This record gives sequence, C-alpha cells and structure tokens, in this order.
Amino acid sequence: MSDGNTEEVWEEMDTRSRSQDSGGEYSDGNEAEDENLQNLAPEAQFEAAVRNHGLERFLELNPDTFEQTEFPTAIVKAVQEMWQTWTSGPEGREARGEAFYTQLFDAAPSLQIVFKSPKAVMAMRFMTGLGSLISVMGKPSALFTTVEGMGFRHLDIDVTGVRAGFFREALMDTIDEGLGENFTLLARVGIHALLNYAGSAFCFVRREYAGRISTILKSWSIVQKANIEEVEVNAEGEESGEIENAEVEHVENVKVEESMQDTKTSGATMNRESGEKENREMKVPTTFNEMLLFNASVMGFGSSSWMNIVLVQWDDIVKNVANFSRLQEECDVMSLVLAKYKGKIELPEFKAVTLASLRSLLPQEWDSDHEVAWGWLWENVEGLLKNMLGKPKLQEHALERFFGNLPPEEAVMLQRQLFPAFFELAPAGQDFLKQSATRINFIADKVLAMSLEMYRSPRRMVEEISAVGLRHVGYAVPTEMFPPFVSASVALMQRFTTEELVVQAFRWSLALIAKILVRTISEGSTLVMKAINTNQKSTLKKAMDVCPRGQRASELLSISVGTQSISPFYWSIDSGALVCAQTILEDLLTIRADRDVYYYGCDHLFTRHPEVIQRLCLSAPTLLPTLLDGLIWRSRQTKEGMRRVNYYVKHLIQDLEGNVSPNLECLVTHGDPQTIRFPAVVLFSDILWSRVASYKFLASKIYFLVILAVFITGQCALFRHTGPQTLEEDVVMLTCRSINYLGSLPKLFISQIKHFFADIRNGDIGRVCGLPIPTYLLNFQESASLMLLCILVIMALQEPFFWCLSENYGVTQSCKAAEERKDFYSVCAFLAMMLYWGLLTDLAIFSMKISSYVLVCGRVAGEVGLFLIALIFLLLAFSTAISALYYEMPEKAGAAVWLEELTSMSLRMYPQDSYQWLVSSSVIITVPVCIFLFIVFIFMANLLVAQLAQSYHDAYSNMQGYARLNRASITATTVQAVPRKKWSAFLSSLRLDEQLEFNEGDVGLSGGIQVQEHANAHPVTEDIIKRFGGSTAPSAPWPREIAMEEEEEDKLGKLEKRLAKMVKSQTKRRREGSTSEGSSGPSMGSSKTSE
Ligand code: HEM
Repeated sequence: MSDGNTEEVWEEMDTRSRSQDSGGEYSDGNEAEDENLQNLAPEAQFEAAVRNHGLERFLELNPDTFEQTEFPTAIVKAVQEMWQTWTSGPEGREARGEAFYTQLFDAAPSLQIVFKSPKAVMAMRFMTGLGSLISVMGKPSALFTTVEGMGFRHLDIDVTGVRAGFFREALMDTIDEGLGENFTLLARVGIHALLNYAGSAFCFVRREYAGRISTILKSWSIVQKANIEEVEVNAEGEESGEIENAEVEHVENVKVEESMQDTKTSGATMNRESGEKENREMKVPTTFNEMLLFNASVMGFGSSSWMNIVLVQWDDIVKNVANFSRLQEECDVMSLVLAKYKGKIELPEFKAVTLASLRSLLPQEWDSDHEVAWGWLWENVEGLLKNMLGKPKLQEHALERFFGNLPPEEAVMLQRQLFPAFFELAPAGQDFLKQSATRINFIADKVLAMSLEMYRSPRRMVEEISAVGLRHVGYAVPTEMFPPFVSASVALMQRFTTEELVVQAFRWSLALIAKILVRTISEGSTLVMKAINTNQKSTLKKAMDVCPRGQRASELLSISVGTQSISPFYWSIDSGALVCAQTILEDLLTIRADRDVYYYGCDHLFTRHPEVIQRLCLSAPTLLPTLLDGLIWRSRQTKEGMRRVNYYVKHLIQDLEGNVSPNLECLVTHGDPQTIRFPAVVLFSDILWSRVASYKFLASKIYFLVILAVFITGQCALFRHTGPQTLEEDVVMLTCRSINYLGSLPKLFISQIKHFFADIRNGDIGRVCGLPIPTYLLNFQESASLMLLCILVIMALQEPFFWCLSENYGVTQSCKAAEERKDFYSVCAFLAMMLYWGLLTDLAIFSMKISSYVLVCGRVAGEVGLFLIALIFLLLAFSTAISALYYEMPEKAGAAVWLEELTSMSLRMYPQDSYQWLVSSSVIITVPVCIFLFIVFIFMANLLVAQLAQSYHDAYSNMQGYARLNRASITATTVQAVPRKKWSAFLSSLRLDEQLEFNEGDVGLSGGIQVQEHANAHPVTEDIIKRFGGSTAPSAPWPREIAMEEEEEDKLGKLEKRLAKMVKSQTKRRREGSTSEGSSGPSMGSSKTSE
C-alpha cells in the first residue's frame, strides 16, 4: 500500500489545478519533434509520438510492475484539455459514458456479464473515475494513490490484458467519435498510456493484494455475522451498544477506563476460577469488541482504553481495506480523536489483541494467511496513524491562537476574500455560487470555523460534514472544485500569517474536510439526484428506470451517507425543481405489479415524510392534486353498474404511532376550497366527521339548544296576555334567566379567555380596519360569542328582577329601579336573542347543502351592501336637491321631509294617493321624483339582481368547498379531543391493516378503504395498475415505459449518431488512403469501427 497522507495528496491536486487554471507552462522540449510527425501515416505518427515522449513502456500492458510514473507535461496538458472538451459538450458526461459502454459491448459482447449494474450507473461511475484519474495525471504520487485505490475496487473483477485492451480501444473510439479532428495526437498517446498504466496496475494489485484483502473481508464478514446473531439473541445488546457508541471526543476516558477495568476483572475471574460456580455470572465474550477488550485485559493491556477509540472506527476501516483513500480518511479522523486521549498509546498492542481475538472467534478458519493479512492491515493503519500522532494537539493550539488573536478587521477580510481567491484560481466555481456576497461570506465564515472545529470535535464534525456534503450534492457541486478551493484558502491564509504551523494546521484540517465532502458527494451523487439538478422529466425518468424495483421508492426518498440522509423528493421541492418533484410523486403513487408483489410507494412516502401534506401545503400546493389523486385506485371492471374504488387514506387518518393525524388540520389551515373537495379528502374527512366528530359536536350543540330554549322561556313567548304577570310567571322567568346567566356566562368567558391567550401567545394577531385583534375573532362564531358574552354581562347587571329583589319588592319586574332599566334591558335581550340564533347556524354543517347556502348568503350580502350604499347616496342627493325647490311646495319644505318621503317611496311604502297628489300639485317636483324612482326601481334594482345572480354563480362553485372547510375545521378540532380508547376502537373498525381486493380474488394492498361508486361517475378505460411479466426479483428494475414521443426522439438521436459515425469513418479512410499505402497490425488509438 502506498504511503502518504491527506495533506500531500491534496497539495498535489492543488498544484495541478493551479497550473491548469492559470495556464501554467507545460513543456518537455519535444513539441518541435511532434510537429515533424505531421507527414507520417496515423499509425506511424502514433508510434513516433510515443517514442518521442518516452512512453514506449506504456504501448502495451505490463502487469509485472506498478510504481509512480511521471507523464510528460505536454501529454498531461493535451489529455486534460481533451477531457475538458469532450465532457463539456451539450450531451453531458453521462451520455458520453453510456456511448462508451455501447461501443464496448458492441466490440466485446462477452464483457456484458462482468457488469452487473445498469448501464447508466456504470457510465456515471466510469466517467467519475476516469475524470479523477485525468485530473491527477500530472502528479505521480496522487496518480499512484488514485490508481491503487481503483485497483482495490477492481479486486473482484477479472481484469486481463485482453479485456483492458478492449476497454482502451472502445474509449478511444468513443472519444474519436465525439471529438474527431480535435482528438489530438498527443491526447491519443496520453490517454492510451494512462489507460495502459491503470490496466497494468489493476492486474498488479489484484495479483499482489487480492488474496490478503479477500481473506480479511471474508473473515470479517463471518465475525460480523456472529455479532449480529449475538445481538439478535441478546435483544437488549447493552454491552456491544456501549462499546460501539464509545465517544471519546469529550475526554470520556474515565468511563472508558472503567469499562476496561470491568472487563479486566471479569477476565481475571475467568482465569482464576474457570469452570467454577461464579463463572455463570460472567459474560463469555462472543462479539469482536467484547473479545478484544477481554483479550486486552488478559494480555495486560487493560489500561489501554484508547483501543475503544479504534474500535469505534474499526468496522469502517476493515470494510474499506481495499479503498486506500477512505482508509486514510478514517485514520486521519482517528488520529484527531486519539489526540484527546490522555494516556500512553502503544499502537502495536492493538495488533496483538486483534490477532488473538480473531484467532478465538475464527478457530476453524484461522491460518497463517489470516495472520499475514490482518497483520498487514494493522501495519498500514499504524503507518498512517504514526504520521499524525502528536501533531493534532499542536496544530489545534496553533490554529486556536491564530483565530483568537486575529484582529476583527483582518478576520472580516479573511472571510471576505476566501471565495474571491477561490474564484480567481478556478473561475468555473462562480457558476455554482451565484448567491449574494453576504451569503457567500456567511459560508466562508462557516468554512473557517469548521477548520478549527475539526480538531475540537472530530466525530461530530464528520457527521456535520456529511450533512453539508449532501447539500452540495443538491447544488451539483463537482468534486473537482474542492482541490482548488483548498489550495486558494491555504494561499490566502499564508497572506495573513507567516507561522508555518498555523498554515499547516489549516491546510491539514481543510484538506480532510474537503476529502470527506468529496467522498460524501461521490457516495450521495445518485443518478436521481443528478437528474433533479437538471429539472428534466425525461432525465429523471431514465434515472428512475434503472433503480431496482424493490428499492425504487427508497431511492427517490432517501440518500444516506453514514448517519446523514437527504431526501431527493424534498430537495426537488426546496430547489424549485417542481417538475421533478411531481414526477417523483407520480412514480411513488403508481401501483406496479409483477406476479409476486404489488409495489406502491404510499407507505414509503408517509413513513419517510409523515408531514408531507403540511410540507406541500406550505411549499408546493400545486403538487397536492397529484398526491391526493395518487391515493385512489379505481377498478376498470364494473358489476351491476357499480365500480370498486380503493382509497388509500390510512396515513391521512392516523400518524405513524396510530394517533390522530394532523393532515386534516393542515388542509384546513391551507384553506383551499378546491383541495378539500378532492375525493380522497372528502372520503376521509366524511368518515372522521360521521364516525367520530359529529356525535361530539352534536352533544355540545344540544347544551346550546337547551340554553337557547331557557333563554326564550325567560324572555318572552310563553305567557302572552295583556294584564300584569302573575307571581308564578315571574318566578318561572326569574329562574330561567338565572339559569341562563349561570349556564352561559362562565362557559363563554372561559372559552374566550382560552382563545385570546392562545392567540396572544402564538402571536396570531390580525387587523380589522387597521385595528389589531386576535385572529380567533375573525371567525364569525367566535366574534358573535364575544358579543353575546358582553351583552349577557350587561343584561345581568341591568336585570329588572335583580333590581326589584335588591330593593325588597320581591319577585317582580314592577318597581321603580326596574322601570328605569326596562327599555335598555329589552334592547339587549333582543340583540342577545339574535346572536343566539346566529350562533345556531353552526348546526348547518350537518348538511353540506344548507351549509353552503348559508355561506353563499354571507358572500352575496356584500353585493346587497353595495346596493344600500348607492341607495343612501341617491336618497341624500335627491332629498337635498328636491328640498331646494321648496317654493313649489311650501308645505313640504326641508331635506329631512323629502328624505322621509323618498325612503318610503324606495321601500314601496308610499301611498298611491300621495303619488296622485304629488303629480297634481307640482310638475316641477314630479320630474325629479320620477327620475329618482326610475334610477332606483329600473336601474339599481335590476343591477342588484344581476349582481346577485353573478356573485351567486361565482360563489356557489366554491361554497361547497368552503362548507367542507368549515366542517373539516370543526372535525379536526373535535377529533383531537377524542379519548385514546375511543380513537383506537374507531381505527380498528376501519380495518386499515387488512389487504384490500382489487378485483375478485386479487388481493392487493392494505392501508385503504374500499367503496363502491356508480360506474359512470368516473369512467376508467385503462388498468390503473401497471403489470409486468418477466422476472419478479426485487433487484430487477421495472421494464422501461418509454412514451411514444420519447421513443421517437431516441430513434432520431440514434440515427443522427450513426450518420455522424459513418461520415467520420469515411473521412478517416480517405485520409488514411491519401497519406499511406495502408497499414495492418494493432490500431493504436485509431478507430476500429468501420460501418
Ligand atoms: C472545504 C470546502 C467547503 C466547505 C467546508 C463548504 C461548506 C459549506 C457550508 C457549511 C455551506 C452552508 C450549508 C448550509 O447551510 O446549507 C455551504 C454551502 C454551499 N457551498 Fe460549500 N463548502 C466547500 C466548498 C465548496 C465549493 C468548492 C463549492 C463550489 C464551487 C461550494 C458550493 C456551495 C454552494 C453552492 C452552497 C449553497 C449556498 C446556499 O445555500 O446559498 N462549496 N458550503
């Protein structure tokens, strides 16, 4: 394995990018000779150029050696430029990769069995890998490490010279097709040599290390399997959990030491008294971690609690034994954690206890190969750790000191110049950071803080960086941007300090952060995520089509790296890629089936995002119809005029714990009358209303009805006679009024106080005519309740019975104090009565028709209001104008008189005789009166009718929705108060966990409610379920469903490519014919294709 650390490799990458970006000088003195080759035949040109640049050893594959190689700078430059041109074309990288695979499989169909992933996935990985090779081609050490890492990843593939040859030729042909004349001779030589170097390395690594690595991985998987079984048996798994969770970040050495002591004691007991009674209490170590700690105590390393730190990452280290760069990352992080450890660290101890533990856990498998392989692994880890031991503490202090002592104005400058320095070095970076300068400075500040925080809490930072990395996946930041970023940041830091240790500390930690980010981006960049960045439906569909059917839903909903995850669906919403979000939603809610299983992403969606309805209401309401329609399945078959319909509304009714779901409340808050009328919402809200909420609501209204009856009895109706009231009547009235005050006032008061303080606490303040009021008062019922409360309080204070009682007149309303208040009291009683009846309109929600009628009345009342304003205006205008003609009719002088006359005319209360008298008395006055009557009765009255008709028409279509919203709001509040037991009984009555039949005998999915609807309500001409034959393996993707036009596009594209290919090969043949007599033998870098 190669040596080196993060810092060196990243520095090399930095230098590469710098020379590349700044147009650095590439020269190896052979350019003149290259120019002289122009006249030779292509094959001869190629060979001469290879010789000219001293690359003869890469003409063929050589699996016997693998060492660092320096490629001539001119070659590196040519390859990098070629790569840039080839991949930055409009087709995009992935399409180039796919073209390459098509070429490869055409040339060598037998190679197809080697590749198990879908072509698109392979293409993406191949292009990323090749890109990283080319980017480090100019730096021997970085190239060596990268090739070696790739070699490890190819261990399980039989890479042979012949296969590598096919690869090379296919790639060169594909590039040739794409670039034609622009694929220069130097670039051909370079890419040929690079691919041969990599191919040879893969063969070498496979021969040298394959045995060791497979021994390690195989034996570790056996150990792991035993661990899992043990944990399953030992359901509580206390011991292993404790060890695995060991976090020594905050110097938890004491705790760790205690655990080591415990193990030591138990180990000692075992040694001393093996086979005796006490042994039963002692836990025999069965997992690797337990065994290691046990062996550590037995072998006298009981105090080496640092081993716990290694154990936390040991699994990742072993599993990534073939991935050197990951191994290095793990060791770098571990070295930071070990730096916090206060005791002495003797690294070789770990090798001894590991080997002893594995020997005990693998008694049958263990042999000398295992001994060599595991020893080799630890030696590599030890080598990497030794490089860093002792350094992190010094670096942390240096960086802390630097940031602590940096004057504020310099700190601001450092922060402000970070990204500009990066843009200077890599101008392409600007395309990814188009944010405002303040946001960029904010990010720069975070980056600087992270470089120090990495030393302070490395494990927490790894988590945090993974999360940040996943966000970078969403912003489609290419990994190539990170080396120049580190480079620019370090160069900037050097301008602020001359202290080498500070620069070193900053460079090291930033390089490690960038490395983790790059890994996260590489792991998190799935085809789906890349497609989302394009916001194109067809690209996303292609990406989804290669997902295994069993994982399709989870790949659309979650991408995880370590413990962090990101949801492609939510990301597409957040980034405004709503086309993609809609495609994802449609795909998730499509029911697909093979012979064995029905696949439907509804459960996945609501399990991963229980708050999806709320999120859509807030951020993407346009997607609500897609979601709500996707919850319905309708049968294509009908029986006796009826059709089966399954509504998968389980997650709309209940949350993941089986409690009341907040979804209905969210839809009510969203307030859209269209959404609430979607069939799925209608069904579930009606079920909640009719089965749970309506009884509770009715119970509360019955109380209200009783109170109203008592109020009516106490105030009026029953005793209608002219004489004075009898004592009995007075007693009944007093009793009713007292019951009314006692029954209404406290209830109304408490409810108002509750709402008032809730709104104040939540800051829910609305405005009416500019006045701030708590929002609950915007609701008619609540504001009417407040008015009723006030009026009842006034009535109680003015109550005639109470006044007479207080003045010792007994139970009567006939006393002086009562007489004084009677008039005011009766007005209040009138208002209270109206409010009581007004509040009763709530009961209309039992019928959607009545409820919408009530709402329509409210809506059109506005039009009537306009009519009244216009009428008052006309009355004032005409009454004042006619009163100016007082000389014509002195007996009716004054505006007030005419106001009264005209009002009674417009209300049709003016007597017929008076009209005749008016006409006979004065023609001059009759004319304006006629005009007034014409305007009011002909113009305004008809206008009012037209207004009402139109506004009724407009309002009624939405009124059903508003009525539903009204009822849903009451349902949502009422179900929240339902006792848990009653709610559970209701849920079990719905039997949501039972699978529903699609058609007779075809048992399908659970989580729904089946109803029958009239066949012609929603005609269905196509089976909603997409059924597929063929393999039923969950790992197989669904067969592609290409739309017709997409298919056409595809065909045209292919035809175009084929034509281009033919033209190119014709041109090439013609060129070859004119320059040489033709050559035979292997084609070095020239196209083999002839069509
Ligand atoms: C070591 C290198 C880097 C670190 C530690 C880093 C860190 C961060 C952090 C902490 C954020 C804020 C995340 C959030 O709050 O959502 C961020 C956002 C971002 N970064 Fe980086 N970054 C690095 C390199 C880069 C590079 C090289 C690019 C592109 C050329 C880049 C592009 C972005 C973009 C586009 C955003 C989103 C900005 C926004 O939300 O307004 N980053 N980065």
